Amino acid sequence: MPSGRRALLSNFCALQRVLAMSLLLCLLATVLRAPFALCFLVNDISSSTPSFYAFGASMIDNGENKIAMPFRALSENVPYGSDFFSKSTGRWSNGRNLLDFMMEGIGYSYLDPYLKSINGNFTNGVNFASSGSTARNSTAEGDDSAGLFCLLVQVDQFREYQASMILNAKGLHEQMRVKKKFADSIYFFETGSNDYSFNAFRTDDYNPTLEVNTTLTYMKRALEVLYGLGARTFVVMNVTPLGCAPSVLNSDVGNGTYDAYGCKADWQELVELHNQRLTSLLEHLRNEHADAEWVLFDAHSIFLDAYHNPSKYGVVYPFKACCGAGGRYNVNSSVLCGGSPMYVDGKYVQWTKCEDPTQYIIWDTLHPMEWFAYYIAEGFLNGTHLSPSFNILERVNAVKLSRTDYDFITSAG
Ligand SMILES: *[C@@H]1O[C@H](CO)[C@@H](O)[C@H](O)[C@H]1NC(C)=O
Ligand SMILES: *[C@@H]1O[C@H](CO)[C@@H](O)[C@H](O)[C@H]1NC(C)=O
Ligand SMILES: *[C@@H]1O[C@H](CO)[C@@H](O)[C@H](O)[C@H]1NC(C)=O
Ligand SMILES: *[C@@H]1O[C@H](CO)[C@@H](O)[C@H](O)[C@H]1NC(C)=O
Ligand SMILES: *[C@@H]1O[C@H](CO)[C@@H](O)[C@H](O)[C@H]1NC(C)=O
Ligand SMILES: *[C@@H]1O[C@H](CO)[C@@H](O)[C@H](O)[C@H]1NC(C)=O
Repeated sequence: MPSGRRALLSNFCALQRVLAMSLLLCLLATVLRAPFALCFLVNDISSSTPSFYAFGASMIDNGENKIAMPFRALSENVPYGSDFFSKSTGRWSNGRNLLDFMMEGIGYSYLDPYLKSINGNFTNGVNFASSGSTARNSTAEGDDSAGLFCLLVQVDQFREYQASMILNAKGLHEQMRVKKKFADSIYFFETGSNDYSFNAFRTDDYNPTLEVNTTLTYMKRALEVLYGLGARTFVVMNVTPLGCAPSVLNSDVGNGTYDAYGCKADWQELVELHNQRLTSLLEHLRNEHADAEWVLFDAHSIFLDAYHNPSKYGVVYPFKACCGAGGRYNVNSSVLCGGSPMYVDGKYVQWTKCEDPTQYIIWDTLHPMEWFAYYIAEGFLNGTHLSPSFNILERVNAVKLSRTDYDFITSAG
């Protein structure tokens, strides 16, 4: 490397102007083991608090797919993000998502997506979640579908990240510390939902027991690989009630039987089977690897309570999307929220955004409204929906749950 370039580099780093290409430059620095350690400011593994590594799909994707394959997903368009960021960020929400509120509650900054090479900051952890991803390998190819990195690819990405961090640590003592840091960190999962929402009941011979077994086999593998890499604290979210989601209600997939609340009975049963088996899987892992914590995050029951008792939450339209192009559930598959308007059967079809977001649970097709994502995050932060009991704030030894503009929700609940 020319020395002028080198001087420029170190100057760049000394000034901490971690602007364009910081990741690339830092990788270069790692390879050269040069005095560019300051580059790793943004990958700071030296903080004493545990990091947070998130794996999963659209409910917690903070822009991974937007970076990997831009200009594809509707979540990059108006009105996504409009109620908080004033622009779309790739999040499938009108504002912040579940993971954002979890981080706010802990006192951490929002996790950056793994692929964020410009201004990325991994001080508090890394978000590997990729919208549309499945637990099984079906979305690994990066094809034209919405999903990119399936769970095991995300685990491989983590493996690569961890290896770089360990390689970058200078000296045995520092390497031990970095490894300890990975062992002390928290590994969070929001996966499985797309394994069903893409395929369930599409064919006559769809076999729920077999499908659930396949999904969980991949999840088990992911968890065990991470355990093998030294992870010791796992928080795994279960699948939310898909049978009540506006997009599922609007489709004709399934046997057409509804439960007492107006949700699709076969879809509800499928999700419950997954969640039962997930609970058993975590029990199994607890017995198998007793030196690790295997925590279930029961987001399913938080959703279900809201769908079943909407008035308790001030919700008027539990089964209708806030943003959509009309119809009973405000979902029109020809023009989804954020999609371009078009003529369908001679009619101009165009999405609109609801006036009062607090009257809805679901934002678009199946992702929660921002206010509801806050409420779900509370189930994690309060510990009320974690089993066995787990106190995240105690764990990170962090600031008290900072109160936000969503306080009114808790007083209502
Ligand atoms: C990275 O994030 C941490 C934690 O929020 C913050 O303290 C730090 O200032 C950030 N670094 C840069 C370079 O933005
Ligand atoms: C699934 O993908 C992972 C990660 O790419 C790979 O290691 C694994 O062999 C694949 N498994 C199957 C059954 O294809
Ligand atoms: C899936 O089914 C097989 C065969 O019955 C069983 O051995 C395996 O434990 C199941 N896997 C999970 C994750 O439940
Ligand atoms: C549809 O599936 C549900 C759940 O398995 C079942 O209770 C119901 O009887 C089924 N309805 C029909 C018409 O087969
Ligand atoms: C979308 O809206 C148009 C116009 O109202 C309607 O004709 C069409 O059936 C709708 N499509 C779906 C899938 O709901
Ligand atoms: C979290 O705790 C607050 C205060 O005790 C409570 O109002 C709220 O309902 C809890 N959230 C959940 C999701 O249980």
